[in-house]
Amino acid sequence: MKKIINDLSVFTSGSNDFKSIIFVHGFPFDHTMWQAQVDEFSKDYLCISYDIRGLGESPAGDGQFTMESFVDDLEMVIDELKLNKPVLCGLSMGGYIALRALERMQEKFSAAILCDTRSEADNNEGKLKRAAGIKRINKEGLAPFAKDFITNCFWEDFKQNKKEEFQKIIEKSSLFDPVGVKGGLLAMLSRSDTTASLGKINIPTLLICGEHDALTPPPVMMDMFHKISKAEFAEIQKAGHMTPIENPQMVNKEIKDFLVKNNL
Ligand code: MLT
Repeated sequence: MKKIINDLSVFTSGSNDFKSIIFVHGFPFDHTMWQAQVDEFSKDYLCISYDIRGLGESPAGDGQFTMESFVDDLEMVIDELKLNKPVLCGLSMGGYIALRALERMQEKFSAAILCDTRSEADNNEGKLKRAAGIKRINKEGLAPFAKDFITNCFWEDFKQNKKEEFQKIIEKSSLFDPVGVKGGLLAMLSRSDTTASLGKINIPTLLICGEHDALTPPPVMMDMFHKISKAEFAEIQKAGHMTPIENPQMVNKEIKDFLVKNNL
């Protein structure tokens, strides 16, 4: 079911009587990247996914986003839907949002699933890369940037064997509002570093990382894993950065095992 909450497109699936999982997508994608997880887990959980402001169906407005405003939006969705301690699941930029949300208000969540993400803020090289991305979008439009960025996110196998699905993802993101995409880049460029707070996370946490993730490789996530007390780590075979799309069977199995084991 689709709901509009303060302009955001929010999607719910599953019974309101179930415990809830809220899924926060990566950049430059939308809520549909969680389709395989929502299909599986809505049998037993209320699954909530939404389009981050400026991406997918959620309007860009003035595009002046910060990671803080993205966390404000997450909190607003949780409050509006009256969710009681949902499991928080975020991938990459969704993981940056999740990590800052945990720093700000971990008492609102029963557990966390951090997929293909990192706690460090952008270094100088990363910041300049984002700036070059904004410049490129201004000069060439969104499509060439989206194609190159998304190409880096997937492992070769998926790009070769699921060509049509891969092209569809690129085409979809190429049609997003460039103002929103640039706003997302600015929010990531200016985000704070959450590494120092990892030791304060005291809810069960599952870290998921594709074995071929070129953006947030397994050693980066292993470092986070060692800093979180109740953490588990799952390396996903045959996947790059977009594990929930590239190997949904293994991701779903790891999430299911984690939920059952922790009585969630
Ligand atoms: C994402 O998938 O959300 C992005 O790769 C994150 C980033 O560019 O840092």
